[in-house]
Amino acid sequence: MKVLVVGGGGREHAICWKLAQSPKIDELYCAPGNAGIAAVATCIAIGAEDVEGICKFAEDEKIDLAVIGPEVPLAMGITDALEKKGVKVFGPNQKCSQLEASKSFTKAFLARHNIPTAGYKEFTDQDALMDAVGIYGYPMVLKADGLAAGKGVVIAENEADAKQAIEEMMGQKVFGAAADKVVVEEFLTGVEASMLCFVDENTIVPMQSAQDYKRIFDEDKGPNTGGMGTYSPSLVFTPQLAQQIQERILEPTLRGFQEDGLDFKGVLFIGLMITEDGPKVIEFNNRFGDPETQSVLARMESDLLDVFLAVTENRLSEIKLEWKEDRAVCVVLASGGYPGSYEKGKLIKGLGDVDEGVIVFHAGTKFAEMPEGSKCAACDDDCGLKQGVVTAGGRVLGVTALGATHEEARAKAYDNVKRISFEGMQYRRDIGIVNKRSSNNLQ
Ligand code: AMP
Ligand code: GLY
Repeated sequence: MKVLVVGGGGREHAICWKLAQSPKIDELYCAPGNAGIAAVATCIAIGAEDVEGICKFAEDEKIDLAVIGPEVPLAMGITDALEKKGVKVFGPNQKCSQLEASKSFTKAFLARHNIPTAGYKEFTDQDALMDAVGIYGYPMVLKADGLAAGKGVVIAENEADAKQAIEEMMGQKVFGAAADKVVVEEFLTGVEASMLCFVDENTIVPMQSAQDYKRIFDEDKGPNTGGMGTYSPSLVFTPQLAQQIQERILEPTLRGFQEDGLDFKGVLFIGLMITEDGPKVIEFNNRFGDPETQSVLARMESDLLDVFLAVTENRLSEIKLEWKEDRAVCVVLASGGYPGSYEKGKLIKGLGDVDEGVIVFHAGTKFAEMPEGSKCAACDDDCGLKQGVVTAGGRVLGVTALGATHEEARAKAYDNVKRISFEGMQYRRDIGIVNKRSSNNLQ
């Protein structure tokens, strides 16, 4: 079986790492991949958003299954294009991809099917939105309707900040056409958790839960990022809460997909706020989370290929997902300056020094020729390779450790993080620490 994974970040490294363990795969490709993915798959120099290039490669190489990592190619319709070429695709089609590509589409879906979420109103006119400033009080939640690389949500603390955000979104168009429509929501308070689910036309199955840390600095300070670390399982999940999520969110969502003719096949990532009134949906994404995947797949026992094939063939109900009892913690190492501007090309040291069983998932990395006479960056020795791994993105690596307890996994992750270095490296010291956002105490 020939499998192609599309994308080149930490999430795709985790997917490739897990797929590579399947005995049924003869050839595993990744487009474009990165320096870490190259250890488990053949990297192809085609960008994840080059739909035409990927279709041509899949056709030429007779790919059996394509797995789509990021949201942008999904929203571009890569699934529909590949399916036309006879390739099985794990990842929703363009119609279903609106669940992430349009907040307004998702809010209407949730309202129509009585799925708990924040109340909302939508605006396409800047003056009308200015007049409505503070409609739900403060903080005021403003969301660009379209895809904005995870940055399209503004939580304005007061009227002045809200007006400035409206001017930036609709006047200066800082998110481009993504904010031609803006969704305003009630502000929800509670604890956030991410739930990733496998979905086919008949079945929705949650994976193990995970907790993401979105802000750049410790104690949830500083600007939002793609995610600075995760742990799994989430510590807020009681059996009672899982049952509520199943009945109030997962079951009505699947019924809603069926009623609306949304033939979703892939991962539905549900951002939840656990409020005093129970769980509510903050957002849907239609792909694996990054870096949630780096914690969740590290704990998966089942063969991921079997799950992917079952989803594409609407046989998900036949699969019983199996998980390790171990807990996982993933700490992201980022470039200095991220999520603002940052330099690339910094040599990464210590990649070969981590303990067995600790997984270093690469996100923004690539190979670079090292000067004559230098040591190999991977083994820090004169192995003759002379190829170093350098930084090539904002989030560079995710160090995932497993442990019999949450504390053990956390200690192991940080112990190994300390062995890796590159100029300007920054990471949060509090990933996995149970704080206000991630405790059972909702106060
Ligand atoms: P989203 O991209 O929709 O997940 O929003 C990004 C982040 O904004 C979420 O992870 C929450 O922390 C916050 N957020 C979004 N919507 C709300 C809301 N209605 N109430 C409170 N916080 C929110
Ligand atoms: N970690 C959040 C996301 O993947 O959207």
